[in-house]
Amino acid sequence: MKSASLASLVALSLSTTACAALYTELVYKVKESIYAPRGWTRQDRAPPTAMIELRIALPQPNFDLLEIQLYEISDPLHHRYGQHLTQDEVYDLVTPHDESLSAVNEWLAIHGLLEQDLTRSPAKDWVKVDVPVSLAEEMLDTKYYVWVDSEGDSIVRTTAYSLPEHLHEHIELVQPTTLFSTLRGMKTNFHLGQGDPAPAPAKGSTISVPSAHNGQVDTSCNSSVTLSCLKQLYNAVGYTPSKELKNQIAVTGYLEYFANLQDLQLFYADQRPDAVNSSFEFVSINGGLNNQTLYDAGNEADLDTQFAFGMSYPIPATFYSTGGRPPFIPDASTLTNTNEPYLDGIPDVAAQAENYRFFFQGRASIIGGTSAASPTFAGIVALLNDVRMKHGRPSLGFLNPLIYTLGAFGAHSGFNDITIGNNPGCGTKGFNATKGWDPVTGYGTPNFGELKELVLEI
Ligand SMILES: *[C@@H]1O[C@H](CO)[C@@H](O)[C@H](O)[C@H]1NC(C)=O
Ligand SMILES: *[C@@H]1O[C@H](CO)[C@@H](O)[C@H](O)[C@H]1NC(C)=O
Ligand SMILES: *[C@@H]1O[C@H](CO)[C@@H](O)[C@H](O)[C@H]1NC(C)=O
Ligand SMILES: *[C@@H]1O[C@H](CO)[C@@H](O)[C@H](O)[C@H]1NC(C)=O
Repeated sequence: MKSASLASLVALSLSTTACAALYTELVYKVKESIYAPRGWTRQDRAPPTAMIELRIALPQPNFDLLEIQLYEISDPLHHRYGQHLTQDEVYDLVTPHDESLSAVNEWLAIHGLLEQDLTRSPAKDWVKVDVPVSLAEEMLDTKYYVWVDSEGDSIVRTTAYSLPEHLHEHIELVQPTTLFSTLRGMKTNFHLGQGDPAPAPAKGSTISVPSAHNGQVDTSCNSSVTLSCLKQLYNAVGYTPSKELKNQIAVTGYLEYFANLQDLQLFYADQRPDAVNSSFEFVSINGGLNNQTLYDAGNEADLDTQFAFGMSYPIPATFYSTGGRPPFIPDASTLTNTNEPYLDGIPDVAAQAENYRFFFQGRASIIGGTSAASPTFAGIVALLNDVRMKHGRPSLGFLNPLIYTLGAFGAHSGFNDITIGNNPGCGTKGFNATKGWDPVTGYGTPNFGELKELVLEI
């Protein structure tokens, strides 16, 4: 091993004096140093034998170029619109220089970490390795502590770490070190109704909604939102997507939630009879579960799959279940935290988010939240990709530039502008919905009938 890496060093350049440092003493220099963030209290030193998963980011040489290309390809007014890069083209832009790869390998090898201990991202721009805290402290010339936040969640972090001086240009960052963030997941994205919902609503009278299909929506939709209501509201009645194209729709489930197939069938029987007996592909990421026990189903996962896949049936569907654990108390025998932080944002677009009728643990229930609006919008996007592909066009890809270009048109932009209402909270009246984009509803709700014409004009 040593001789191989020596050879690669020699091959680099005889004039690179920085490399000489490897064989003398490693000169450490602080890479990052922060103030302890508010709300976190330092406790004891982290147990030296506890394991942490170090993630090392190497510089992506042409990241700027990648970003420029992403925006060109996503800009409906650009001549490169829709000319998506292949995976290999992306890797070519972000794969680190050989010089960086070998400098980092050399440093890892000094600490006894060899290729078989490492996991690399496909473009080799991230290296992941499980190490005991004691070794991480040695590698980063730091001390790890247990930190606890006001909710009692604890994590192992440091407020400063160093790297050998010659590695500063070859490593962007190492985590977990200085990144403090709350570990709470998607706890408030949905709210489940109390008690039994109204029985499956019968069709009858309608309410006038000018932007809806034929300007009408069933009155029952005011208290019980079904797939049929959403198709009326968003002007997507009667559109039939194909399952033969390369189009796909996928839902990700976090915190080991999984979607129950029995609930899906009950939902389809209730709202999408033509989809009964159809299913989705299940993919487990990092140990994500698929426990089909009815009473272990996740309401989030059930809601997402029922509405996203129900809206877009028969487009082939996939559910990704991601493994992960709730906040943990590290001890000498177990220490691996894989929870990722979630952040709030302001919306680009909107959709119904109240009174969704779905099936959970074998029964019809009412649910609402961003978690209801999101799969609905995703289903509409899958239908738009179907429109594009039926005409031999590539899929829409990164949507935001398209949304903001269309939204700026104003009337007939493909969105139903929401101009009434606000979002009170935290003792304020919140923002007002206004004409055009606003921080409550973005550009508004989708009008599929308009969007399906617009996505063929770009
Ligand atoms: C819809 O429901 C709300 C609240 O239950 C009610 O105030 C409103 O009058 C209903 N609208 C229509 C058109 O039925
Ligand atoms: C669904 O599958 C069941 C069991 O195989 C079958 O009895 C039923 O007719 C199927 N329903 C539809 C709508 O295909
Ligand atoms: C999964 O299924 C088994 C057997 O039905 C059950 O004992 C277990 O509690 C379930 N839940 C999880 C999260 O594994
Ligand atoms: C929202 O509209 C109300 C009524 O017009 C107004 O008093 C209030 O200042 C507006 N709020 C914001 C944040 O603009």
